[in-house]
Amino acid sequence: MTQLNKTPLKVKSITQETASIRTIKLVRADGGELPAPPAGSHIMLHLPNGLVRQYSLTNAQSETDAYRLSILLDEHSRGGSAYLHQQVNVGDELVVSGPKSQFPLVLGAETSLLIGGGIGVTPLLSMAKTLHQQGQNFELHYCARHQRDAAFVKQLRNCEFADRVHFYFSRDPDGERLNFNTLLHDIVAGRHLFCCGPNAMMDAVAQAASHWPRGSVHFEKFKADNHQVYEDIPFQLVLERSNKTFTVPADKSALDVLHDNGYDIDNVCGEGICGACLINVVDGEVEHRDGILSEDEKSANDIMTLCCSRAKSDTLVIEL
Ligand code: FES
Repeated sequence: MTQLNKTPLKVKSITQETASIRTIKLVRADGGELPAPPAGSHIMLHLPNGLVRQYSLTNAQSETDAYRLSILLDEHSRGGSAYLHQQVNVGDELVVSGPKSQFPLVLGAETSLLIGGGIGVTPLLSMAKTLHQQGQNFELHYCARHQRDAAFVKQLRNCEFADRVHFYFSRDPDGERLNFNTLLHDIVAGRHLFCCGPNAMMDAVAQAASHWPRGSVHFEKFKADNHQVYEDIPFQLVLERSNKTFTVPADKSALDVLHDNGYDIDNVCGEGICGACLINVVDGEVEHRDGILSEDEKSANDIMTLCCSRAKSDTLVIEL
């Protein structure tokens, strides 16, 4: 089944998981099947306030009756999570595109090690359910400051794979902190690591797994690292198929310039972490500033995020 493209789905139920996390279950109005969501995939919500937001699904790959997404109310919300917490009710329609997968499981992995922090556990829950259904080897390590703030704890303690789930509530009186160095010390052939959570946690995991084989460590980010400072230099953007050239000035992104010129290109995060604006690069050298492409993908220089990456060369030719 093809992906949804701005398709209205109905809010079937809303479950308050914690004080600040709610799960919204979306179905087709006619009760029909939805496209199967690959483990770890996300959907995009086109909200009535004009925002487009991306949320991971907690579905197993085989669950096509409904999409389940869990949303943390962000205290700095610019209208995405606040809207979904305060304005959306059972029976409402939400416009959905996807599902898309930027954080796929590795087929044929001997074992998968899943590490989730806070609301970052959502794609890992999808992976855990899928791996369990497929009879694959895995462990899920779930970290949060307090149990009261962590969604799905009861569900995970009572599920069929409860013996594979480990909890770490670092600020609870009897809680513990996951020691990444200990967990990731040994290199096991065929083992893949999947991690999603706050950037500081992912940095610590990346550091602890820095000796793992290339290609065996996978992250999904939901906030950009803004550690690096870049100089914005104008460049020429050549659209190969359209046979057009635009100047991208220092104060605009390639995506801004394309929108200004009438090109309808998806833009969800605007900071290089969702992959909505990825495009193929035909020629020129990209200055990758995103947090989504792997080092190997960046070196290949054949794909880029239009919202934040720019050119190192004077000209970039893209497939558009
Ligand atoms: S809009 Fe999210 S990566 Fe560009």
